[in-house]
Amino acid sequence: MEEVSVILKKNKSFSKLSRDEKINYIAETISDCHLTEQEIKKVLDDFIYADESIQSVFAELTENTLSNFVLPFGVAPHFLLNGKDYIAPMVIEESSVIAAASKGAKFWKQHGGFRGRILGTIKLGQVHFYYKGPYKVIEKFFSHIKEELFVLATPLTTKMNKRGGGLLNIELVQQEKDSHYYYLKLSFQTCNAMGANFINSVSEEISKNFSQMAKGSSLFSQDQIPLMIMSIVSNYNPDCLVEVECSVPIKDISFPRLMTSGEEFAQKFIHAVHIANIDPYRATTHNKGIFNGIDAICLATGNDFRAIEAGAHAYAAKEGSYKSLSQAKIINNNELHFSLRVPLAVGTVGGITEIHPLVKFSHDLLGRPSAEELMMIMASVGLAQNFSAISSLVTTGIQKGHMLMHLSNILKKFEATLEEREKILFHFQIEEKETISFSAIENYISSLREGNHPDLSA
Ligand code: MEV
Repeated sequence: MEEVSVILKKNKSFSKLSRDEKINYIAETISDCHLTEQEIKKVLDDFIYADESIQSVFAELTENTLSNFVLPFGVAPHFLLNGKDYIAPMVIEESSVIAAASKGAKFWKQHGGFRGRILGTIKLGQVHFYYKGPYKVIEKFFSHIKEELFVLATPLTTKMNKRGGGLLNIELVQQEKDSHYYYLKLSFQTCNAMGANFINSVSEEISKNFSQMAKGSSLFSQDQIPLMIMSIVSNYNPDCLVEVECSVPIKDISFPRLMTSGEEFAQKFIHAVHIANIDPYRATTHNKGIFNGIDAICLATGNDFRAIEAGAHAYAAKEGSYKSLSQAKIINNNELHFSLRVPLAVGTVGGITEIHPLVKFSHDLLGRPSAEELMMIMASVGLAQNFSAISSLVTTGIQKGHMLMHLSNILKKFEATLEEREKILFHFQIEEKETISFSAIENYISSLREGNHPDLSA
């Protein structure tokens, strides 16, 4: 067979090669890859679905697909939100996350569950441009053509209008007084769609029409015609906002196996959240915990977790320093109140929601929610996750639970026998003779295998 690198040079781009040709190319090109061509092929083939109709769904989602990358799909039960029960689908590789979400949800279910509300569903697009003339001229021009911009965008917006959404407003924004950078701020309602494609198409159309009208306008001298730079959705959506909250009388907080009282717990819990409000180092880890939950359900429901993360982190920094997205306080004198306010631009139609079999299943599992309902479910998962993380941090510490969940991965790595597993679980989990860590288990297994029973030695 002709070397693929030769074929490539001759006529084809990499993306036009067949899957086998791409794999051959990789094997030929990556000289310091320690795998043989057969080994590369095997690992990639191992995760290809035998059923071609399923495989083609994944292969066509993106470009240069060589295999499928598998992550666990799990569920966190016990979510009670606005009086309705949910089982949250979650896709995540990190152990403890699903367990923590379930544990948090179970705690709050016993105390009335989560209450959610939508604070806004406006999404944004921007048409960025530079303009060097006087502000009052561009303002006059914009006010003359504003209605025309709406009319000219109608072919693109009619369908969304019929669904109850569309382009709601166009505003002229000068970023800083006297600066030459401006943008048109386009506000949209995209109903159950995430809407990025719709927003991008309308933004580009508006940019094109704005530019054409500016060029034909007598208001601008030749050197002052606005220079259009780019048009794109904004992933910062502070007005596409959801809030979930929960509260519990402090007297009802009890953790049977811990020595901590409800009062002490609530006090430390509130301090922990306060720390995340004043210290960006802690806020980042705190919010990461929230996103352990939100990202996992985003993935499971086929939503764009990169967009959602970017928007939420910008929101967390809206006051000029990066802060906690959740808040905790005492209300009514004796209740611990915990809440999360986060922008979540999600969709329940379009994208891969109708294509990916497990994404479809996730939506079925949730009872085919609207985008607004999904925003509240996602925020509840984030808050449950955050609650569990902080609860562990201010009581036992995080490592105890983490390492316990990690234990089975470590045992798998050492190919522990049934007998070894029993001894290890007894030593580390039941008797708690040592703190679980990779090296402690490695040493323990070595001693067992060398014939020294560590628990029996002096
Ligand atoms: C680990 O994935 C997440 C935590 O670090 C979150 C937190 O510290 O709040 C436990």
